[in-house]
Amino acid sequence: MPTLKIHHIGYLVKKIEKAKKTFEALGYSVEQDTVRDDIRKVDICFLKKDGYRVELVSPFSEESVVSGLIRKYKNAPYHICYEADDPKAAYGELTASGFAAIDTPTPAPALCGRSVVFLTSPVIGMIELIC
Ligand code: NI
Repeated sequence: MPTLKIHHIGYLVKKIEKAKKTFEALGYSVEQDTVRDDIRKVDICFLKKDGYRVELVSPFSEESVVSGLIRKYKNAPYHICYEADDPKAAYGELTASGFAAIDTPTPAPALCGRSVVFLTSPVIGMIELIC
C-alpha cells in the first residue's frame, strides 16, 4: 500500500467568515484565505493549528456539490483528505479495498489546481484523495 498522509480535515460551514473567526478564536491561523471554487460552487479557506489543517467548505449556490450534505450535516466535519506518495497506486488500492469513487479526478482551485477525487466506503463514509 502506498503511504497516505493526512492533508486536511474538510469542515462544512454555512457562514465561512464567521467560521474563520471562530476557528481563529480557538487558536487556528489562516493558511490560505478564501478561494472560490466555481467547479464545485463552494468557498474554501485553509486554517492550521498544531500541525493540523482544516479546510472550511461553504456552498455559495444551491447547485453546489455540498448543498445536500450541508442540509443533512449542518456545520460539521465531513471528510478527511489524504495525499499519497504514489496517487495512482493509492487510488487502485483504495478501490480494490472497498472504496468507490463518487466523482472523477477534478482540479481543485484551492489546491493550486491539483486534482482531487472523492471516494466513499460503506464502512467509514467519504474520503478525499489528492491525485
Ligand atoms: Ni477537502
